[in-house]
Amino acid sequence: MSQATAHYRLDPCRQEIGERIHAELSKALPAGAALSLSAADVSRLLEQPPDGKLGDYALPCFRFAKDTKKKPQEVAELLAAALTAPGQGQGWVNGATVASAFLNLTVDKAKMAAAALPAILDGSYFRQLAAGNAQASRRVMIEFSQPNTHKEFHVGHGRNVSLGNAVVRLFRYAGYDVLGANYFGDDGTHISTVLWHYTENQLEAPAHKRGEWLGSVYVKAKAALGALEGEAKAAALAKISAIHRQIETKTGPVYDLWRKTRQWSLDEFEELYKWLDVPFDVRFYESEETDEAQRIVDEFQQKGVFALDDGAIGVDLKAFKLGFCILRKRDGNTLYATKDLALARKKFANYKIDRSVYVVADEQNHHFKQVFKVLDLMGFAQAKGCYHLSYGMVVLPEGKMSSRDGNAVSFLQLRDMVLEELTKILAKYAAEWTPAELADTAHRLGDGAIKYGMISTDPAKEIVFNIADWLAFDGNSGPYLMYGYARTQSILRKAAEAKLAADPAAVASLTHPAEAELIRYLYDFNQVAASAAELYKPSQLATHLFYTTKAFNRFYAEVPVLKGDDAAQRGARLALIEAYSKVLKTGLGLLGIRPPERM
Ligand code: ARG
Repeated sequence: MSQATAHYRLDPCRQEIGERIHAELSKALPAGAALSLSAADVSRLLEQPPDGKLGDYALPCFRFAKDTKKKPQEVAELLAAALTAPGQGQGWVNGATVASAFLNLTVDKAKMAAAALPAILDGSYFRQLAAGNAQASRRVMIEFSQPNTHKEFHVGHGRNVSLGNAVVRLFRYAGYDVLGANYFGDDGTHISTVLWHYTENQLEAPAHKRGEWLGSVYVKAKAALGALEGEAKAAALAKISAIHRQIETKTGPVYDLWRKTRQWSLDEFEELYKWLDVPFDVRFYESEETDEAQRIVDEFQQKGVFALDDGAIGVDLKAFKLGFCILRKRDGNTLYATKDLALARKKFANYKIDRSVYVVADEQNHHFKQVFKVLDLMGFAQAKGCYHLSYGMVVLPEGKMSSRDGNAVSFLQLRDMVLEELTKILAKYAAEWTPAELADTAHRLGDGAIKYGMISTDPAKEIVFNIADWLAFDGNSGPYLMYGYARTQSILRKAAEAKLAADPAAVASLTHPAEAELIRYLYDFNQVAASAAELYKPSQLATHLFYTTKAFNRFYAEVPVLKGDDAAQRGARLALIEAYSKVLKTGLGLLGIRPPERM
């Protein structure tokens, strides 16, 4: 557990280890000396050994050398001897070895099984994280997706929506009062450019997929504008600017066209959110921040926070190495950053939020540094609670996608490609399943494959998108995990038919190493979820679920369950399978993934 998760209650095993080691260290201090770490600090130093054979927890002892005036290895040896001395009672630790400066500990797996499995089976385990969060009930707003109307929803937006949705669910699971927010880009020159091209050429929109079609008009409009030169170009730019003014002043024929076309895009976004099962609690629109942005400039210029610079108004951030942030241009128009100030103030005032998260691609890193700094200079205490969750691009194996080169994949194209592949794979069930079940399964698998592909990479890294990997049933993929879940459901159905029941009271018999390994993964689920939330890295949870599933598959290959002849052991193993299936379903749910019940 890292410092980032210090406000979460520790699990009983780590807590006890921390306390015992703290007590032993205190005894080993020279006269008059004091320990600079608390028991909880010691717990947080516990690591996962690189190899399971070394033990269940590893403790690096470097940090204790200064206080104890002993070499790290000496401290490790002293602790190993103390923790395994006879007469230590029924604690968690049942073995300790030393490897140079590391203390490796093994713990009582039966105790771990008894602590985790019954609570997982009765559901109480899944409330423990929230209950042990000292910051629970604080309000967090997570703004994500934010597509622009009149533009294509591309695969990069797919990464954003998957990531943001997972962060919302993780924070909620961790006990926070979460508001998922969207901020539609329905204002800006890109829209005036589309509407300029649209009106100039008196385009006729198709009857369906009109939002997607607008995205293609944007590409054509950019090309048409780029081909102009000299006076023709100046005239076109003047028209575009006049169109922009109509939109911002909410008058004129193009304003009506803007409203109509904007709605086409918004309707298609909402359809997609429905397909993805991504709800929003609040919807903001860039066009609604224009007036407030102007007021903010006046207000804070008067207060002396914003200053005039060569006809423009803005804030000098050079002292913070952030350049000059323009907030109103010489022509009187505000900018993207100005609207963000207006939006932030609205979020603070109307929603009483303690933390404000913005999920936006890393090309806007500088923008958010400026915005947060300006908010701070404007005197908003909440500026400290603002966080830009920045993420990398989605690229093809052959390189960057570009709409100009025609190799860009829109999100809908990606979805259709994935669904087409899955429909082929699922065709073998056509005789057994109803068409509705086939379609529902393809939907769940396709949605899960895409979301997992978008989430399983660390947000800071770029994603090299390869559809075959994302759909593989035997790698680190969404289908692999969803298949793992469906498999448990099939085993549990067979057990029910054979009138075999899970027996949480018998879990002490789960002593096989493959069982112990799986139990450990289940026991650690909440701690990983806490870390994934606080570090804004749902990828950590994805990785944990992947290793959990590998451990399950090993267990199921090595240990007989339904065919076992010891009734108590069979009941215990069924309890373990059921616990795994509940953890997996919950974990996938936190990633926004809904696995099918059978496959
Ligand atoms: N619509 C913007 C874009 O696609 C992203 C908005 C991000 N959110 C914000 N508060 N600025 O570029």
